[in-house]
Amino acid sequence: GTNRIFRIACIPGDGIGIDITKAAIKVLQKLSDTVGTFTFDFEIFDWSSTTFKERGYYMPPDGFEQLKAYDAIYFGAVGWPDVPDHISLWGLILPIRNSLNQYVNVRPTRILRGITSPLSNCPPTSLNWVIIRENSEGEYAGHGGTTHAHSSHTIATEVSIFTRIGCERIFRFAFETARSRPRKKLTMVTKSNAQRHGMVLWDQIFAEIKEEYPDVEVDKMLVDAMTVRMVLHPQSLDTIVATNLHADILSDLAAALSGSIGIAASSNLDPTRENPSMFEPIHGSAPDIAGKGIANPVGAFWSAAEMVRWLGFEEAANVLMECVENVTEASIKTRDLGGEKGTEEVTEAVCLEIEKVI
Ligand code: NAI
Ligand code: MG
Repeated sequence: GTNRIFRIACIPGDGIGIDITKAAIKVLQKLSDTVGTFTFDFEIFDWSSTTFKERGYYMPPDGFEQLKAYDAIYFGAVGWPDVPDHISLWGLILPIRNSLNQYVNVRPTRILRGITSPLSNCPPTSLNWVIIRENSEGEYAGHGGTTHAHSSHTIATEVSIFTRIGCERIFRFAFETARSRPRKKLTMVTKSNAQRHGMVLWDQIFAEIKEEYPDVEVDKMLVDAMTVRMVLHPQSLDTIVATNLHADILSDLAAALSGSIGIAASSNLDPTRENPSMFEPIHGSAPDIAGKGIANPVGAFWSAAEMVRWLGFEEAANVLMECVENVTEASIKTRDLGGEKGTEEVTEAVCLEIEKVI
């Protein structure tokens, strides 16, 4: 068949972002060598807290223009203890999501073969969710400021922004996702009891968009009660849509309930496909285990599989996930999953599986 070449911008970033990006590139290269219908041309960008300390910026001024030339972006993690976290996040990951119109963040969660949930009474079939996170506005819109910073009466505001367009497009994407899954079920998360402006608009627009999808079953949860439902009745949920902040928090909980933060994947999508989308595990740079060779690469592989899927190779994406699950099922696992293997051993095992399957 034909062989398409995809240019992938890789930003390993900091800490274990570097280890897991290396692992993901290895596995993606093995996949493309074996499947043979696509090739990845990886370009590594050194944008990180280390280069920030040297040059004073994470991304050069033309950084976005550079990224636009690629078919997709693969991201590790950013953040290091000697740089305040709001500087690193706002220096790299948040501006990329914003400027490349990646207004959807998709976070799939299920219990992979060979992994047990910390919830007792939660067989693998009971937890299979997709969290759709609003990725461009809400609580992370960056509106606000500080007045009288160095006085005893400092004022700081952090204003949540909810726009009609922002709500409409994230809900449509969530409904389309729910419709594409067997249960056709969407749970909307809100906090409109206490937050009576932005969250009320959010609810109102949800009610409007719902009319376009009569085949999708919907329900609505307050975010605090949602944490309880995720723990006590995981099987009652399928597709979930939530604001930037709520979904950030709920997806870490979801990751933990499915076994570890180290296995969870995410896609930052520009559904218009005008700009490259970005794929990254949901975990951070984990300074506590960085450089020890023990980071779990499964979230990085799952994110890589979602990138392959977004680029149009559904079957290859499924093959990659099969191979990852063959490895977790064979108990070749890192410490966060109760195993004793290192990042490289898990990576090699996945590569071997890819050779076997195809
Ligand atoms: P974290 O996700 O880096 O770590 C939380 C805990 O989970 C740590 O104990 C860590 O060792 C463990 N962990 C995370 N990923 C793992 C993996 N793949 N395998 C095994 N264990 C894993 O979150 P934390 O500690 O809150 O943040 C550390 C830094 O990362 C901060 O600077 C933060 O701002 C940044 N961060 C960056 C993100 C991004 O780039 N998208 C997302 C979250 C945090
Ligand atoms: Mg998070």
